[in-house]
Amino acid sequence: MDLLEAIKVRHTIRTYDGQPIAGQDLETLNKMIAAANAEGNLHLQLVNGQPDALAPFTVHYGKWTNVTNYIACVGQDDASLEQRCGYYGEKIALWAETAGLKTGWVDTRTGSQLPDAFHVADGERFVLCLCIGTSEKVGRPHKVKSVEQLSDVTGQTPEWFARGMEAAQLAPTAGNQQAFTIHFDGTNLSITTADGNLACVDMGIAQYHFELGSGIDHARWAQA
Ligand SMILES: Cc1cc2nc3c(=O)[nH]c(=O)nc-3n(C[C@H](O)[C@H](O)[C@H](O)COP(=O)(O)O)c2cc1C
Repeated sequence: MDLLEAIKVRHTIRTYDGQPIAGQDLETLNKMIAAANAEGNLHLQLVNGQPDALAPFTVHYGKWTNVTNYIACVGQDDASLEQRCGYYGEKIALWAETAGLKTGWVDTRTGSQLPDAFHVADGERFVLCLCIGTSEKVGRPHKVKSVEQLSDVTGQTPEWFARGMEAAQLAPTAGNQQAFTIHFDGTNLSITTADGNLACVDMGIAQYHFELGSGIDHARWAQA
């Protein structure tokens, strides 16, 4: 399976078999996390093989069972932190799908006390978790907004834009809100979002999907 196929078959998995990530998968995952941290100025950390790993959190919604592994999305706290978590986290989530692993983003609220399982340095903020592991479960497709609802374009759009939108349409979003809009006026390409819970994380995820679908470089995005 390649990354474009992974976009089509990926769905949130909330029940896992409780196995830690091991062997070649663990090696690749650690490399991907290190690359994301270097490139995205993040401090993503893998929590692996921890029974009842979501217990220290208040989970926003959904029933999560047997989660033992997750990536704690942490990074330098600035205006782009949530978007960077989404972009680089989804890069890992789609690779995971190609490797036969399952994933699920989860809005994990913390009280005043953060779990000991990962570290948040001064100036950093913990945003959310990306659960990862093996599971027999198969996710189900969900309702998605139309390309017209998710984009704002002027005139005819090129073929690469259509392919990018198809991939962005399938991006997971918090509560399936799909609050993002991708703008293209024939020259400038940008993405914005309406307000929403973790909507900037969603925006980063959609951006990564769009890049994979369209084949454009990350540098092609203009600031909205
Ligand atoms: C940023 C983000 C936060 C999410 N938070 C939760 C959550 O707290 N609980 C949950 O059950 N699902 C959560 N989800 C999963 C979404 O509900 C799911 O991605 C969406 O409904 C689309 O379904 P699919 O991923 O199965 O395609 C989250 C997804 C994203 C992208």
